[in-house]
Amino acid sequence: MNNLRNVMSPIETATGLPNDCYVDDKMYRHEQDTLFRDSWAAIGFGKDIADPGMAKPVTFLGIPMLMVRNADGQVNVFQNVCRHRGMILIEEPVRLRGPITCPYHAWAYDLDGNLRRTPHVGGPDIDTHESVKTCDLPLIRVRSHVWRDVIFVNVGGEALEFETAAAPLINRWKEFDQPLIHTGADSSISFTLECNWKLAVENYCEAYHLPFVHPTLNTYSRLEDHYNIMESGGFAGQGTTVYQPQISADGRRFPRYDDLSSHWYAGAEYIALFPNVLLGVHNDHAFAILLLPDGPGRTREQVEIYYAEEAARGDEFAEMRTTNTEMWRTVFAEDIGVVEGMQRGRHASGYDGGKFSAVMDAPTHHFHAWVADRLSR
Ligand code: FES
Ligand SMILES: [Fe+2]
Repeated sequence: MNNLRNVMSPIETATGLPNDCYVDDKMYRHEQDTLFRDSWAAIGFGKDIADPGMAKPVTFLGIPMLMVRNADGQVNVFQNVCRHRGMILIEEPVRLRGPITCPYHAWAYDLDGNLRRTPHVGGPDIDTHESVKTCDLPLIRVRSHVWRDVIFVNVGGEALEFETAAAPLINRWKEFDQPLIHTGADSSISFTLECNWKLAVENYCEAYHLPFVHPTLNTYSRLEDHYNIMESGGFAGQGTTVYQPQISADGRRFPRYDDLSSHWYAGAEYIALFPNVLLGVHNDHAFAILLLPDGPGRTREQVEIYYAEEAARGDEFAEMRTTNTEMWRTVFAEDIGVVEGMQRGRHASGYDGGKFSAVMDAPTHHFHAWVADRLSR
């Protein structure tokens, strides 16, 4: 772990995370067992289970999980497994009309996970048995929290409350504690990246590559207009003071968020909330990106774009929504070559984690130090 200690050195002398952290199966499992399990990691989006009764299965850290919206509109996350014989309960996203009913012997659970029915458990047409106490057999709950429509879980169960753990970022963006309106398929983008999830985080945190990788973006939001963001509380990123792209030919704009302070008239921020969520805010839209690791060398990336008001759903904004989504699709697609190139570079045995720019790579170093600290605990 010597080389991990060096990652935590001051940036001028630090090296980055060693190759093993990107390519090695054992290290990948260690990472899952430590920093993913012990943190608040993201598994999905509230908008995917928008209404009461909607449920969506997801596998995370190898564990089958089920995200469910209950009758009160709250999100619950359970292990997606029946307490009887361990059958997977739900295979596909579904809008339930009644309870969560196991397909094997029809034990049924309400949307809060309580076991409600156990048909024939005491013999034909006898639905109870003294040895089966339904109150002892609820679905196995996974600790969860929803923020900015992202569904987070703390699988280990021992992290600080989400609102405490993420307080610095929640406070930083409290002006954006406003509606997040998702308009459907025209605001979703997905990619499969042939790289380790950390490279996607690192690339998102920095503006250094802007002139070289995003020449178009760099025309309206230049490198010199950016600043670094690093704070304790497990996040890092960058901001710009001039985000004002032309979205419509006639100068129309999306409805903006209410009562923003002047910093946000043209400012925008892009922050990675460690480990696996990338967030962006602008005065008229926001996005959340989920990174789902699929082995050390592959990451599924799901981007969801949100607007400030219901009005943004309207037909009159359809073209602008498409323009905005396509603009972001282009920017994120421009990053694929470099994150995948860095992944291939991690097989070069002479590379030792590299050399940081003490000025431009500070957010990346901040993330590396966070990872190294957790891996070496
Ligand atoms: S395994 Fe679910 S009811 Fe039997
Ligand atoms: Fe980029």
